[in-house]
Amino acid sequence: MSDASKESNPLENIEQWEDFVETATYPEPEHKKREDYRNYDDPARDCVREFYRLNHKHQTFDFVMKKREEFLGERRERKELTIIESIELLNTLVDDSDPDIDLPQIQHLLQTSESIRARGCDDWFVLVGLIHDLGKLLCVFGEQQWAVVGDTFPVGCQFSDKIVYPEFFADNPDSQDPRYNTKLGIYEEGCGLRNVYMSWGHDEYMYQRVKDYLPDPGLYMIRYHSFYAWHREGEYEYLLDDHDRAMLPWVKRFNPFDLYTKSPKEPVWSELRPYYEDLIAKYLPPTLKW
Ligand SMILES: [Fe+2]
Ligand SMILES: [Fe+2]
Repeated sequence: MSDASKESNPLENIEQWEDFVETATYPEPEHKKREDYRNYDDPARDCVREFYRLNHKHQTFDFVMKKREEFLGERRERKELTIIESIELLNTLVDDSDPDIDLPQIQHLLQTSESIRARGCDDWFVLVGLIHDLGKLLCVFGEQQWAVVGDTFPVGCQFSDKIVYPEFFADNPDSQDPRYNTKLGIYEEGCGLRNVYMSWGHDEYMYQRVKDYLPDPGLYMIRYHSFYAWHREGEYEYLLDDHDRAMLPWVKRFNPFDLYTKSPKEPVWSELRPYYEDLIAKYLPPTLKW
């Protein structure tokens, strides 16, 4: 990575954020000792901090509007890919610094979906596991890390201080803007999350690709899986409607599969691929337009 690129993309790879979330949000699993993550001199930790500094500074209401127009608007020239092609394209985001890990993106998707399947959950839930992070293709399309991964949060109203590294919001211009810096900002009490603009990233982008095809609990998992201030901290109650409250348990149910299924025994894509091709065909159109 060049120096200039390193400045705007401080993480060694986008999984580094998820490794951080895993330890910042839940008790550490046995194999990762607490001390490893409380060391603020740890260079990996510095990368994550710098990543959040950029994320919190630049994710403004105007930025979100601009990205929504760019990626969700009519004028975008969309690349048309099957889900399998999309997964394989995402997998080109290889982490050069870690040659031991084969196919890291496919592995995360497969390990998530296979652990959901092993629990005997509905097949649409398994499919959600497989596709939930495909919005990370934004990185392949040249978007900066802080605009693809990281916790998501509402823009257009006051930032919760339960979002990780809340002090960095002081550099976000919206914190000084009277339209956006009150509790409700541009929203009405109880308006429902579907009427709330979230910081821009892979969750919303993927949700918009599949919103017509999956059951609502699955869509909530895709759209809000990085909204930790809500599903972990219980913040933003005043924006929710009854449907959001009904869907929250599903989002919470998905989270451990996303975070804690890095099994040492890797599922083999070539063996599982026929099963997933059938599952994809059951719910999704032959191609998605990115
Ligand atoms: Fe994700
Ligand atoms: Fe994930």
